[in-house]
Amino acid sequence: MELEPVDLVAADPETVLLYVDGLLVGESNWIATLANLSAVLHEAIGRVNWTGFYVMADSGRELIVGPFQGRVACTRIAVGSGVVGTAARDRRTVVVPDVHAFPGHIACDSASRSEVVVPILSEAGEVLAVIDVDSPEPDRFHEREAALLEAVAERVAACWPSSFHQS
Ligand code: SME
Repeated sequence: MELEPVDLVAADPETVLLYVDGLLVGESNWIATLANLSAVLHEAIGRVNWTGFYVMADSGRELIVGPFQGRVACTRIAVGSGVVGTAARDRRTVVVPDVHAFPGHIACDSASRSEVVVPILSEAGEVLAVIDVDSPEPDRFHEREAALLEAVAERVAACWPSSFHQS
């Protein structure tokens, strides 16, 4: 399915979510869908330097980098490590206004100053993946960004293919 071009930079959250819905139903290849979702979120949130997915490994002990926008990132992050692993371990959104003040923060891009990580949870409450967004601006992420990412995470979870395994 072809989506109409949308100015995502200026779009309100409802428009972004409509676009996300379109991507989720428009393509059966999950890597392609996650790749385009990372691009949509990178553009729609704005003033960010890294936006992407870390997918839970079959072992349940680490997350593996998935499709993203930004600089080269750590390939694997243990559950409990860094902001990504903390959000996965605690199954909750973690907003970090100052990454330098977060104990154990994993610096992939030294330009990052603030970060938000939102878990993507299955119906059973298992972590399927997380969405990770970094900004070069301190204190970039607030309720608006967290709410948008949580709404996206719910939609992605609802479409997550049971056949998608990472190891
Ligand atoms: N900063 C993250 C690592 C991933 S990068 O930001 C892409 C963390 O502390 O888990």
